[in-house]
Amino acid sequence: MEKFLGKKNVAVFISGRGSNLKFLIKYSKSKNSLINIALVISNNPNAKGLEYANKSKIKNIGYKYINKKIFENKCLKLLKKYKIDVLCLAGFMKILSSNFIKNFSKPILNIHPSLLPKYKGLNTHYRALKNKDKFAGASVHLVNEKLDSGRIILQKKIRILKKDNTKSLEKKVLKIEHQIYVKGIIKYLTNL
Ligand code: GAR
Repeated sequence: MEKFLGKKNVAVFISGRGSNLKFLIKYSKSKNSLINIALVISNNPNAKGLEYANKSKIKNIGYKYINKKIFENKCLKLLKKYKIDVLCLAGFMKILSSNFIKNFSKPILNIHPSLLPKYKGLNTHYRALKNKDKFAGASVHLVNEKLDSGRIILQKKIRILKKDNTKSLEKKVLKIEHQIYVKGIIKYLTNL
């Protein structure tokens, strides 16, 4: 009973494929997991990732995105309704406004496909290859009002090989993301 009471109620925001969501759901169902995923929201009603939530009978909604304000207000209401303690962004491709962050007022975590502070924003693998970087990787970080700039919780890097291209790098980094997002959440929650 004690363990159950200690679980954090988590919402996950996605925009598309949802492979990170899949791993978060898998973890949430594992023995001694620290989280309960109570809600999944997408800014795209056709997001493939919503199927993972459906399969696991997790409440999920795909909103037709009209504008930031309408979307965020709907989300804030639901986050309150479902008593969400922590919000995890997993391939969520919209930038949350400072108004949303202030109003939610609980931790927001994100997984980003680069070794932050390098390559905030999009096309991270292309930029790492173009700059002839030796390493690529992924970061779990807190979300603040500046894009991809909140405190870094966990990172993992891999070597970029001569034969790598954006596709191969994306595949390798995604594999790392699946490992470190869960680890980062655990690290964050156990250090609160
Ligand atoms: C992941 O690589 C994630 O890091 C990235 O989108 C992909 C989503 O994959 N997120 C961002 O770039 C956010 N700025 P998924 O839908 O299979 O989890």
